[in-house]
Amino acid sequence: MSTDKNMEIIEMGGRYLMQTYSRLPVVFVKSKMQYLWDIEGNKYLDFIAGYGCLNVGHSNKSVVNAIKKQVGKIIQPSNVYYNQSQVMLAKKLCEITGFGEKVFFGNSGAESMEGAIKLARKYSTDNYNSLRYEVITFKRAFHGRTLGALAATAQIEKQKLFEPLLAGFKYAVFNDINSVKELISENTCAVIIEPVQGEGGVYPADKEFMKELRNLCDKKNIILILDEIQTGFGRTGYMFAYQNYEIYPDILAVAKSLGGGMPIGAIISTDRISSSFVPGTHGSTFGGNMASCEAGLAVLDYLIDNKLAERSKKLGQYFIKKLMQIKKKYPVVKDIRGTGLMIGMEFNEPVAEKIVLDALKDKLVLNKISGSTLRFLPSLVITKKNIDTLVKWLDARIKEI
Ligand SMILES: Cc1ncc(COP(=O)(O)O)c(C=O)c1O
Repeated sequence: MSTDKNMEIIEMGGRYLMQTYSRLPVVFVKSKMQYLWDIEGNKYLDFIAGYGCLNVGHSNKSVVNAIKKQVGKIIQPSNVYYNQSQVMLAKKLCEITGFGEKVFFGNSGAESMEGAIKLARKYSTDNYNSLRYEVITFKRAFHGRTLGALAATAQIEKQKLFEPLLAGFKYAVFNDINSVKELISENTCAVIIEPVQGEGGVYPADKEFMKELRNLCDKKNIILILDEIQTGFGRTGYMFAYQNYEIYPDILAVAKSLGGGMPIGAIISTDRISSSFVPGTHGSTFGGNMASCEAGLAVLDYLIDNKLAERSKKLGQYFIKKLMQIKKKYPVVKDIRGTGLMIGMEFNEPVAEKIVLDALKDKLVLNKISGSTLRFLPSLVITKKNIDTLVKWLDARIKEI
C-alpha cells in the first residue's frame, strides 16, 4: 500500500482534489466481480462494492460488453429525442417493480430524491392545496447531499453547515407510527423512508410499521416515497426491499446498483402521479444516457438470470449466523443487524476505523458507517468461502481488542 507509486497518486490527490472524503491509502486500478487490485498488483476481497453500487460485481462482463457495444454508436442524443435504451430500461423497470407505469431517469441517488420530492410536491399542490409541500422523513435517514436531499437527511451534523435548507421537512422516529401521525398536517404531501436505513447504521424497518405507514398514507392522501437507492436490486434478499413488506410505494427512488458502476438514477411511479410532470417541470441533460441505460439493462438481466436476490437472502442468513457466533464469543460486539447482504456490526467501543485500516493491510476492503459500526455491502456474487475468509479474519482481529 504505502509504496512509491501509491504515494505519488495519494499525494497528488491531496493537492488537487477537494477534500470531501476521508480516503483510505490505496489506489485501485483493476477489478473483477468481488475482487480489486491496487496499483502494485495486490489483490483484495471487497466487502463494500463501491458503496453498494455493484450488486452484480465489479466490471461484470455482461455490463462491460453492453457499455462497449453502445459507446461506439451513440451515447446521448439528448432527452428531447427518444432513445431506445432508455425506453427499454423504463419498460423493464415498470415490469419488475410490479406497480410502476412511468420512469424518469437522472444520474445519481441524490438526483432521484430531488425528482421524487418535486413530483410529490407538484402532484399534491396540483390535486389538493397550494401549500401542500411538507415532507416527513425519519431520524438517522440518509437521502443524499444535494440541498433538497440534505433537507430530507435527518442528520443534524450533516445539515447544520449548510443552512438554510429547503423548507417543509419534519423528522419522525423510525419504526414509530405515532410519531409520524403527530407530524402530519393538512400540508403534508409525502413521507420518505428507506426500508432499511443504510448510512444511518443498518436499521431495518419493522414489517408492521411499514404496513401501518402505507395505510396511513393512503388514508391521508399522502405520497409514500421509498428510497431504495441502497436497498434495491437484490441487496436485501428481494429485488426490492418493499417486496418483503408486502406493500407498494407511490414513488420508488433507485440508483447505485442499477448502473453496475455507471452513473444512473431513476424515479418510478404510477400514471396518476407521473401525470403531474409535464414538459418544462423537470429534466436532466445526462439522465438516461444510452451507455448507462444499456448497463442498466445488462444489470437487470444478470440479476434475474443468476437469481442474485435469492442468493443475497441465503448468503445473508449465513453471514449473519457467522457474525452472531463472533458476537457470542466477544462482548465488545454489541449488535449484528441487517437483511440479505446489507449487514451492520456494532461494537461497544470506537474500534471500526482501526479494523478497516488493519483489514486493508490484509487485503480485505471493509467499510465503517460510524466510529463503532462496520457495514458490509458486498457484491451479491460473493461466495460462502469469501464470507468464511472475512469471518476468520474478524474473529482473530476482534480477539485482540
Ligand atoms: C439510501 C440512500 N439514498 C440516497 C443516497 C445518495 O445517492 P448518491 O450518492 O448516488 O447521490 C444514498 C447514498 O449512499 C443512499 O444510501
